[in-house]
Amino acid sequence: MAPLPPGSLIVIVGITGYIASHTGLLALKAGYRIRGTVRSLTKAEDLRSAYEKEGLDVSRDKLEFVILDDLLSEAQFEAAFTGADGVIHPALPDLYGEDVVNKIIQSTLIPMRAAAKVGIKRFVLTGTLVSVLTPGSPSIPLDRLITDKDWNEEGVQKYLNATEEEKKSPAFVGVVYAAGKTLAEQAAWKYIETESPPFEFTVVLPAMTWGPKVYGSAATSLTWLWSILKGENSTLSRSPIYIEDVRDAGKLHVLSLHEQEAAGKRIWAAGHPVGWTEILDILRKHYPDQPIPKNPPTSPLNPCPWRIDLSLSTKLLGGKWISLEDCIVDSAKSLGY
Ligand SMILES: *[C@@H]1O[C@H](CO)[C@@H](O)[C@H](O)[C@H]1NC(C)=O
Ligand SMILES: *[C@@H]1O[C@H](CO)[C@@H](O)[C@H](O)[C@H]1NC(C)=O
Repeated sequence: MAPLPPGSLIVIVGITGYIASHTGLLALKAGYRIRGTVRSLTKAEDLRSAYEKEGLDVSRDKLEFVILDDLLSEAQFEAAFTGADGVIHPALPDLYGEDVVNKIIQSTLIPMRAAAKVGIKRFVLTGTLVSVLTPGSPSIPLDRLITDKDWNEEGVQKYLNATEEEKKSPAFVGVVYAAGKTLAEQAAWKYIETESPPFEFTVVLPAMTWGPKVYGSAATSLTWLWSILKGENSTLSRSPIYIEDVRDAGKLHVLSLHEQEAAGKRIWAAGHPVGWTEILDILRKHYPDQPIPKNPPTSPLNPCPWRIDLSLSTKLLGGKWISLEDCIVDSAKSLGY
C-alpha cells in the first residue's frame, strides 16, 4: 500500500498532548491536513493560535477539531475517523481510575476497529519504552542490544503478582502503566495478525521525552527538569534512561505516515542513553546561576547501561537526533529559564 501523500487527512487523537501537539505541528508542516480530537474546544483554539505563531496556515481546511471525550466509544472514533486517510493515536485513559489496564487495552483496540471499518490506510500508535522494559530493572540484558523483539514480560508479571498492599502504593500507577501498555501493544499486533485490517500499522516507542512544549502547561517529564533547575534532587533518584527530544518523537510519528519502511514496525523514539552527571553538567554550563543539585553517585544503573537498537529510527531521521544539549536547553527555555 502506498505511503500517505501530502494533502491526506490525518486524525490525531488527543492532539493537545505533549508529543501529539508536536506531531500535529510537524504533520501540518509536511503538508497533511489535520483533524485533531479534543475533549474541549477551548484548548483546541489555544493550540490553533500556538500553531499560527509558528507561521503555519491553520485555516479550517488545514486544521479542524472534533470532540472525542470517551476513548472507549467505538462510535465516537468512527465519527472522528470518517473521511480520513491516516490516524495517529497517542491518547491514554486516566491512569488513576478503576480497571485501568483493561481500559488501556480497549482504548487501543477500539479505535483500531473503528479505523478498519471506515477504511483508514495508515494507523500509527504511540507505544512506550516501558512496554519493552522497566527502567532501572536489574534484569535488563546488558550483553546485547534491546530490539523490537523485546517485551516487558517482567512488568506484566509484576502487575499480575501485586499484593493488595502494593496496589495501594502511589508507585503502583507506574506498574499499571507498564503492564497496560505492554498488553495493549501486544493485543494490537495480535489484532493486525488475526484481523488483517485494511491499514498499515506502526508503533512509535518514545523513551523519556524532553524538549520545548508547543503550548499549555508542562508535561510530567518536563516538571522533573523543572524541579532540577529549582535545585531539588528527588528526580535524581530515578534511574536515568534514554532521552529523546519531543520534536524527534513527533517527527518519527509523521515519518511513520509516509515512509514505506516504517509500515509494520516498532520504531524507537529513544535518542540518547543518559547519565545524571551529563545532564547536570549541561545545566551548570548554561544556567550557572541556578542552584543545580550535586551529582548523585554513579552506579551500575547511572549512567544508563543498556543499549537499544536505534538503526531504523536513526535512518528515518536522516541520521541525526537532536542533541541532548539542544534538547535540555530548549526545554529549560520553554519552562521560562
Ligand atoms: C511473579 O510470580 C511468579 C510465581 O510466583 C514468580 O515466579 C515470578 O518471579 C514473579 N515475578 C515478578 C516480576 O514478581
Ligand atoms: C539529595 O540531597 C540530599 C542532601 O544533600 C542527599 O542526602 C541525598 O542523597 C540527595 N539525593 C540524591 C538522589 O542525590
